[in-house]
Formats: sequence, C-alpha cells, structure tokens
Amino acid sequence: MSSLPVLSLGLCGFGTVGQGVWQHLEANRALLRARLGVELRVTRVAVRDARRKRDVRLPRGVLGTDPLAIARDPAVPVVCELMGGTGLAREVTLAALRLGKVVVSANKALICEHGSEILATARRHGGHFLFEASVAGGIPIIKALREGLVANRFPRIYGILNGTCNYILTRMKEQGAPYAEVLADAKRLGYAEADESLDVDGWDTAHKAAVLAWLAHGIWVRTDQMIVEGISRLTPADLRNAATLGFGIKLLAVITRDFRRDELCVRVHPTLLPAGDVIANVNGVFNAVSVTGDVVGTTLYSGRGAGRDATASAVISDLADAASLLRHGKGAYLPGEEPAASSRCRLAPPERIRSRYYVRLTVRDQPGVLARVASAMARHRVSIATVIQGPADRPRAASLVLTTHESDERAIGRTLRRLRALSAVLEDPVLLRIGDFGP
Ligand code: NAP
Ligand code: HSE
Repeated sequence: MSSLPVLSLGLCGFGTVGQGVWQHLEANRALLRARLGVELRVTRVAVRDARRKRDVRLPRGVLGTDPLAIARDPAVPVVCELMGGTGLAREVTLAALRLGKVVVSANKALICEHGSEILATARRHGGHFLFEASVAGGIPIIKALREGLVANRFPRIYGILNGTCNYILTRMKEQGAPYAEVLADAKRLGYAEADESLDVDGWDTAHKAAVLAWLAHGIWVRTDQMIVEGISRLTPADLRNAATLGFGIKLLAVITRDFRRDELCVRVHPTLLPAGDVIANVNGVFNAVSVTGDVVGTTLYSGRGAGRDATASAVISDLADAASLLRHGKGAYLPGEEPAASSRCRLAPPERIRSRYYVRLTVRDQPGVLARVASAMARHRVSIATVIQGPADRPRAASLVLTTHESDERAIGRTLRRLRALSAVLEDPVLLRIGDFGP
C-alpha cells in the first residue's frame, strides 16, 4: 500500500476524454506517484446516463449522475469538467471554484464564453482554473505561453487548432474521400465535438483562438468580433486547385498584434499555405502552432490535436499542477495579474487586415464573363494575379479560379458583393485567404 498523500479527483463527464483520463491514470499510476509524490485517485464520476455501456468498468460506488454534487463534495478538492457545453458546465465550474477548489477543464467553448467570469470567481474565492486540454489537444501550448514564453510579447500566433478539420482536409486531399464519409470517421474516432458544426464551421477553432489571444494579450475577443469561416464549402477541387498553384489548404487561426498601432486581429479561415510551409505539411488529426515572440523569435509546436489519449495527456498535466498548487500555493502567470497594459488595444479595422485571396466562381460559360468579373474586381482595386478556368459540375458553366495580389478585407468584401450581383455568377463565390507568414 502507498503511504503517499491521496488527492481525490471528481470527473464530471466520462466520455472520450473522461475515460482516457481514467485509463492513463491507471496505466501510469506508479510513474505518476513517483513523479508527483501524490496518489491521484478518481473517487467520483458523473455522467448523464449511468446505464450506458462504457470502455472502462468503474469500481462500485464511483459512478453517479449529479456533477453538481461532485462540485460541492468537500471530499473532492479537484473537479474535472469534461462534459462540454456552456450551461451545466458553467454551473459546475463556478460552484467548485466558489468553494476554493481546483477545476480542470477541456471546455474551450465555456472558456471563450465565460472565461472572464470563471477567472474572476477563481480569484475571488481562492480557487484555480486549469485548462491545458482546451487548446490543441496534447500540445502543451497553454504552458508554453504561461511559462516558457512569459518574457515575450506576441506579434503573431497562428496554426491549426482543430484536429477534426485537419483530418477531414487531409483525407479529402490524399484520398479524394467524400466530406460526409470522413466526418463520420472523425466522429467515430472521438475527434469531433458532440455538435460537429462547432468543428467544421470554424467555431471550435475560434473558441481556442480566443483562449490563446487572451493568454497572449490579456484581452477577451468575442467570436462575433472575429472573421470565422469553416471548411464545409471546400471541395476536393479547391484542394487540387491549391496544389496546382503550389499551396496546401489548412483551417488556421491567426492572431496578430500590431504593437505600433496597438491593434489586435483574431481570425479563423481556411488558408492557402505555400506547399513548403511546415504547417502546410502537418496532417491528419495533428495540430501545429507557430508562436512568434519579440524576445524568442518564432517557435513551433506540433502534436495530436484531438482524441482520447492526447487530450488525457493534457488533462493529467493539469492534475499534476493541481497537486502542486494544493501543496505549494501559487501557479503560473495568467493575464489579469499584471497592470492593465493592454487596455488601450483595439481590434484592427477590416482595411488593415491584408492578404492575397483565392476566389472560386461558378459562372456561365459564355463570352464576356471573364471581362465582367475582372471589371468587378478592378472597381475595388483588387488586382488579379492568376486565372485558372476549367469545367464546372453543372452544364453550360465554368469554374473560374482567380488569385489576387495583396488587398484587404474591406475591398475583397465589397468585390464579393459585386460578384454575387452579376447574373453570370451562378453560385455564391468561395473565398479563401492566402497566408504567407514567412520564416
Ligand atoms: P463526450 O465523449 O461526448 O463525453 C461527454 C461526457 O459528459 C459523457 O460522459 C456524458 O455522459 C457527460 N455529460 C454530458 N452532459 C451531462 C450532464 N448533463 N450530466 C452529466 N453528465 C453529462 O465528449 P468528449 O469528447 O469527452 O469531450 C468532453 C469535453 O472535452 C468537451 O468540452 C470537449 O470540447 C473537450 N475536448 C474534447 C476533445 C476530444 O478530442 N474529444 C479534445 C479536447 C477537448 P453520457 O456518457 O452518459 O452521455
Ligand atoms: N473537436 C476538437 C478537435 C477536439 O477536433 O480539435 C479537440 O479540441
């Protein structure tokens, strides 16, 4: 028998992530004891349906259906919120923090929507909120920003933050696999959110971008203040066109801060990256994040961004920190603990968000159409760089793929409105940004 102190853990949620945490705590019990000097023991678990068959058999008396009871149980000082959603998850989190507990969360949607309230509650009541698993799965990116890179300001952070979308794009590109089939596989593998539109429409990436932007800049950016576009309108033809042009396509979060103007921009969109870019070659469920700091320069992090094992690894790293916090007190830096240096920073206006663009149009295949499209673009001073014309999926139509020289969000937005109004344009244009982030 171990004579080490025991830290009782409550797991609210025992699905993909919760069961992974249990399995790896069990499998690495001896190693964790030796490294932490504490016995991490799950004493209570709550689920919605206690009769559902699970991969893990729990000891008698551990499983229940009341997460709030775990949050309020004085015998459970560490509560893991692994349910998802922003209703009950918020209640459980706040209830535990009000009692001064440590809450470990993988719930980026909750942090994005209620992070400010949650952190304030933790501060007020002496609780702690840890959230390594909320961004980029198994990559310790939160630790990197809070600890390893604490000396830096961050002019640019960008990367792939959603494993499901990267898995879908990779299989569409490599196998030409149909979107619906690949999405079903991503769900079966435990990568996708319960509501998969959070993944494919870009919201999950936006939630994670909000968490990173807050850590890096101390400002909560709401998703309605970001450009958020997902991958559901992309076709294998876009991936082929991009390859012809020398690019890969990735769903990226891009967080830039112009320190001279003191402007911040947070955006999420499918992006054409030069085929040689390291991040363009990060495939499958893997995520990758490039962080440029003013002191360190550019650093790069990559690893599995979703799934049971990678996420469990991140949750257990928070449990290790929880053990240390409860024994020794203070944790790593969080925004809000320094003077409000960022309070003057504002969001960048659209005319200062610059990039090159890829525009795919389905147009009538008849004389003069290309000239009308070019004229609509010229009206807003958007300059065409390349044109590829090919057959479309419908009769008497052509697919027109244009790339532009550098322009900005205001000009391209106006151009798209003008293009939509042309009778020769048969479908809503597909717009992608071209990212050239340099070394
Ligand atoms: P999941 O497989 O759907 O599991 C959710 C768990 O929460 C289930 O055990 C469910 O109970 C329980 N639950 C849901 N509502 C409940 C309620 N009202 N009362 C009690 N229990 C409830 O989800 P997951 O993939 O593990 O994700 C959990 C969280 O981790 C989410 O916030 C997600 O965004 C985040 N996350 C997931 C991953 C990943 O790769 N999957 C990675 C990083 C972060 P039943 O089993 O009885 O339905
Ligand atoms: N659904 C998320 C993803 C889980 O695919 O990245 C990890 O946060």
